[in-house]
Amino acid sequence: MPAQPAILVARAVFPETVERLRQHFDVEHNPDDTIYTKAQLIERLRGKAGAFTTGSERIDAEVLAANPQLRVVANMAVGYNNFDIAACTAAGVLATNTPDVLTETTADFGFALMMATARRMAESEHFLRRGEWTRWAYDMFTGSDVHGATLGILGMGRIGQAIARRGALGFGMRVIYHNRSRLPAEQEAPIGARYVDKATLLREADHLVLVLPYSASSHHAIGAAELAQMQPTATLTNVARGGIVDDAALAAALRERRIAAAGLDVFEGEPAVHPELLTLPNVVLTPHIASATVATRRAMAELAADNLIAALTGGTPPTPINPEVLAGRR
Ligand code: GLV
Repeated sequence: MPAQPAILVARAVFPETVERLRQHFDVEHNPDDTIYTKAQLIERLRGKAGAFTTGSERIDAEVLAANPQLRVVANMAVGYNNFDIAACTAAGVLATNTPDVLTETTADFGFALMMATARRMAESEHFLRRGEWTRWAYDMFTGSDVHGATLGILGMGRIGQAIARRGALGFGMRVIYHNRSRLPAEQEAPIGARYVDKATLLREADHLVLVLPYSASSHHAIGAAELAQMQPTATLTNVARGGIVDDAALAAALRERRIAAAGLDVFEGEPAVHPELLTLPNVVLTPHIASATVATRRAMAELAADNLIAALTGGTPPTPINPEVLAGRR
């Protein structure tokens, strides 16, 4: 029997997924869940035709040049800013991600984080746990309404649209959005979404939710200048990627109450969190868990495995990022 291709599963993942991959490949995995340095990643990838990765593995020109045998990198994430896609394509390496299977789960979380932020859930819960709740008061933890408010979405892809649907259909919100391109009218109409320029979005949103991919062009898309355009009563929720928001500028705006509150699931330089954010009451902080339900994480792992298996056994990978690599192989 010819030797099976070798792959690296770079982080700990469901044992069932590793077992499934073992039916097709010689698998090196990482049950201790070590986060490899670049040198370790390069070393572990030696002789591997494929890699099962997460956002913590950066696949760039240096890693690819050191491993010219590599043919596919399968990210267990929809975002793929950890991949240098141009370098992958130039090296003939297929890159894949896990869209669709996490859309609704991530939208649930984004909406929940926005609500928790608007209604001051974390701050009031901490108050209660500290034993400070002694009586009812007319103005105790008064927040801002979600129903009927204006929901602003920056980045109207699949997840942005799913959040907009929740707002429009479930909470009677007026939806405005800004995106690289405008949606077709038939997608805007059912949720009454109005395309606006970024300045209008910042100015009019009561609750602004960020759902755009991270890239050089979205780095600090929300910084001091943008925060200054928002209403002092507005909230900002980020379920996209750290680095889209300038966290230092956000901390200053929250401290000075130039916006009311923020909900953050992602951070610049995570898992480190800007120290000032940790001290502020008007920010809800969660550790990058927007897609974290058991069912969705399983679906993401299986889709990443589907991509690896198809790419290395002559099949058609379901969710390629750079399908031109496949065309070039035929
Ligand atoms: C999570 O952040 C993802 O990109 O799937």
